[in-house]
Amino acid sequence: MESQDWVYSDIVKDHFLNPRNFLMGDESNFKYDAVGLVGNPICGDQMKMYIKVDKKTDTIKDIRWKTYGCASAIASTSALSEIAKGKTLDDALKITAKDIDDYLGTLPKHKFHCSILGHDALKDAIEKYRTVEEKR
Ligand code: FES
Repeated sequence: MESQDWVYSDIVKDHFLNPRNFLMGDESNFKYDAVGLVGNPICGDQMKMYIKVDKKTDTIKDIRWKTYGCASAIASTSALSEIAKGKTLDDALKITAKDIDDYLGTLPKHKFHCSILGHDALKDAIEKYRTVEEKR
């Protein structure tokens, strides 16, 4: 492995040290419409993603997340939350791990799988939201 593979970009460090949309404290502090929960089979880390949806426009009005994940997962999910906010649910589902990687100016290659954790939690939250809405 090259030594460069261990280097985090400044933007990754910023999102790790100052995570955007992180849910501080109890989840009752955020009025959400759906929550997604996933585990990463590679490392066992977990991610919870909370979304608030504007029902008229079907867009993500607000978003929060919590994790037991690593620094890369924290930075990736911070970036994902910024990218996803304001998007329609369909467009949010189209966000890729590469979009997150591009936003962050590249994660170390061996940490790329960490960016999938937040993304999968967002997908789970959207699926749960739609399941509940279909039953109404
Ligand atoms: S090592 Fe588990 S999410 Fe990064």
